[in-house]
Amino acid sequence: MLYVVTSAAPSHAGPVTDLVAGAQAARWRVFVVSTPLGLCFLDRARLEQQTGEPVRSEFRMPGEGRELARADAVIAAPMTFNTINKWALGITDNFATGLLCELTGYGVPIVAVPMLKPALARHLAFQNSLHVLRQMGVTLMFDPSAPYERRMATWDDVLSELDRATGGTSAPRAGASWTLNATSAGASPGSGDGVACHSRRWWHPPTWSDSADSGFRSTVFRMCSDIPC
Ligand SMILES: Cc1cc2nc3c(=O)[nH]c(=O)nc-3n(C[C@H](O)[C@H](O)[C@H](O)COP(=O)(O)O)c2cc1C
Repeated sequence: MLYVVTSAAPSHAGPVTDLVAGAQAARWRVFVVSTPLGLCFLDRARLEQQTGEPVRSEFRMPGEGRELARADAVIAAPMTFNTINKWALGITDNFATGLLCELTGYGVPIVAVPMLKPALARHLAFQNSLHVLRQMGVTLMFDPSAPYERRMATWDDVLSELDRATGGTSAPRAGASWTLNATSAGASPGSGDGVACHSRRWWHPPTWSDSADSGFRSTVFRMCSDIPC
């Protein structure tokens, strides 16, 4: 199961329905989650038709609805300045950011695509958030030198990155679990600097020197429960 988590920014990579179609062509079952405001940027009816699942944006109350199927991987795109910063800080004031925080903690492979103006990208809070997220093993596809209208990678590139992040298992077996190795946060091939960045093309290291590893270590991804209220 692939979770696609979106937030309130226009997608310069094309509609999220195209991402979902591409993921489904790669044999993923897809479930879409959005921040509350992000719903305004989505074709919710079409996504629900495509996935056969409701687009979730709210926490589930006890006794309501059903638990989510376990996530094997996540694409977080487009990601606003706001959601990237809240995710990095661990602020779970909506279902989507709470889910991202939880899934990061489980060590589920996540490919995130920020979408924001150059001025916001220069904000130290955002740079710090990228630093925190990559230390936790999130693959960030972000090129601060790209023009605003080409800030997002294409959906094809995002899906290729997902394939790399999941070790090429585009359709994981039911019941499979992800085990990140001992240096999960720093084990990307060729990174050499303790950074889990699978695509050097998209993520530019910050100019300040990296602090020591945060000590974050993912263990074994056992299950992804719905977030209890
Ligand atoms: C039309 C429109 C376009 C926007 N584009 C962006 C954007 O590209 N990047 C961004 O970070 N915020 C953008 N915003 C601002 C976010 O929607 C705003 O910060 C919002 O609070 C983010 O909510 P969320 O992160 O919970 O989805 C835009 C807002 C509007 C109304």
